[in-house]
Amino acid sequence: MISNPLRDPRDRRLPRVPEPCALVVFGITGDLARKKLLPAVYDLANRGLLPTNFALLGFARRDWGDEDFAELAREAARKAARTPWREEVWERLAGSVRFVQGSFDDDNAFDQLAATLGELEGTHGIGGNAAFYLSIPPAMFPVVLKQMQRTGMADSTSGRWRRVVVEKPFGTDLASSRELNELVDSVFTAEDVFRIDHYLGKETVQNLMALRFANELFEPVWTGHHVDSVQITMAEDVGIGGRAQFYEETGAARDVLQNHLLQLLALTAMEEPVEFSAEEIRTEKLKVLRAVSLPEDLRTFAVRGQYEQGWLAGQRATGYRQEEGVDARSTTETYAAVRLGVETRRWAGVPFYLRTGKRLPRRVTEIALVFKQAPHLPFADTDTEELGNNQLVVRVQPDEGVTLKFGSKVPGSVMEVRDVSMDFLYGEQFTEASPEAYERLLLDVLLGDATLFPRNAEVEASWAVIDPLEEFWAGTTPQPYRAGEWGPRAADEMLAAEGRRWRRP
Ligand SMILES: NC(=O)c1ccc[n+]([C@@H]2O[C@H](COP(=O)([O-])OP(=O)(O)OC[C@H]3O[C@@H](n4cnc5c(N)ncnc54)[C@H](OP(=O)(O)O)[C@@H]3O)[C@@H](O)[C@H]2O)c1
Repeated sequence: MISNPLRDPRDRRLPRVPEPCALVVFGITGDLARKKLLPAVYDLANRGLLPTNFALLGFARRDWGDEDFAELAREAARKAARTPWREEVWERLAGSVRFVQGSFDDDNAFDQLAATLGELEGTHGIGGNAAFYLSIPPAMFPVVLKQMQRTGMADSTSGRWRRVVVEKPFGTDLASSRELNELVDSVFTAEDVFRIDHYLGKETVQNLMALRFANELFEPVWTGHHVDSVQITMAEDVGIGGRAQFYEETGAARDVLQNHLLQLLALTAMEEPVEFSAEEIRTEKLKVLRAVSLPEDLRTFAVRGQYEQGWLAGQRATGYRQEEGVDARSTTETYAAVRLGVETRRWAGVPFYLRTGKRLPRRVTEIALVFKQAPHLPFADTDTEELGNNQLVVRVQPDEGVTLKFGSKVPGSVMEVRDVSMDFLYGEQFTEASPEAYERLLLDVLLGDATLFPRNAEVEASWAVIDPLEEFWAGTTPQPYRAGEWGPRAADEMLAAEGRRWRRP
């Protein structure tokens, strides 16, 4: 085979270590920074994947010195690190930790931040490279971006790189996401913008591409000729935790459908990319998102629900309207399901059923391809009573793996065919534990690898799907379901209308 000179010649089995750089986290005292980002930084350091010349900068309002910040970072990392705690790793990291105090509207604080980055070039040899993580309320994005523009911190010039990481939600509808994209793109160059959808950092989501494009077995049947329907589920057993204000303004469709579920749909339905690169994968995903169609009959094929008091794992669970901080007459949905189409030759006529909800019976995320029944069964009807459709299920979490469901003969002298399952479990096949999604994605940001980050056009194409749904739902009341049940009855009726049933994972 003649090698393609456009392909990346690096050996991917070698660990990839970023160039010298700094990671600046805005909102360092917040929930996400403490639970995910700081532990991820420690885990990367522990795995030897941070450059020797590295600095971690926190920015927040409280009156702290570098030592106070180092103590918070240590506690947060220690509490949630994935890899074993090693004091010497932390000690090395702690020597590179800096804190800048200030509010986002404080010009002096940003001047101080720019000066600190300059100093770190001399003291820590970071080479002028920096990634800025906006782990802050979305309403604060514009002020922080403008501050970075004003101080010249966003300029990737004179041999240095400057990148920005934007957390979801990327806007609340198409218009606001366009506005945000325009602002971000006016401050940073497009290739320096990393929009985090942490689902794409999960090993099994990436495995979807390996499963499809590294094997001969699956791809030939991965089409509407053989696939009857696709079900994509992200179910949570938890409620809204302490995030009532955020959730009241957001709801399940904006929180999960717009990003995680549509990204999973795009990866499931996309064509093979020309090569495994950010540009090519994003191009294929975008084509799918642009081809997504909503059902004409939204009344039947789009369902929103809200959990009421119920029981989960033997414990009483409060109803959504009784949660602290939630309006007693709230019409925010905690469950959303919709039947989408993908208008391409491969998928024409195949329904993609997407659902997400809180306080469902268990935490599970999966993509299930449900195949058509065999066109002819040379058995008596009674022999195949227990035979369902073949299914290929990619389990994103928990129990990461793949299950194939097919018919098999039941042992005995009669010809009886019944469904059986064949399971591949990540945890059993591989001894290496998978990195946390944030660990993987943070490393990719520092390496400048944007493969797993949606680009602005994908975000806008996703909002173009969600906006009409939100318009249709505006002013309506979500259907109730009891905590611990698989969503409202209307969601079951939605599939029953077409002779199908939701999987019970
Ligand atoms: N938490 C999650 O699990 C999660 C999951 C997915 C996405 N996200 C996204 O991640 C981002 C951060 O979420 P979060 O839950 O970590 O939020 P959070 O707990 O409310 O933290 C917000 C942070 O922003 C800082 N901040 C707010 N206003 C400021 C100002 N005017 N000047 C300086 N600092 C200010 C706060 O610092 P102070 O200490 O000074 O108040 C705090 O560190 C949001 O965009 C969210 O949508 C979060």
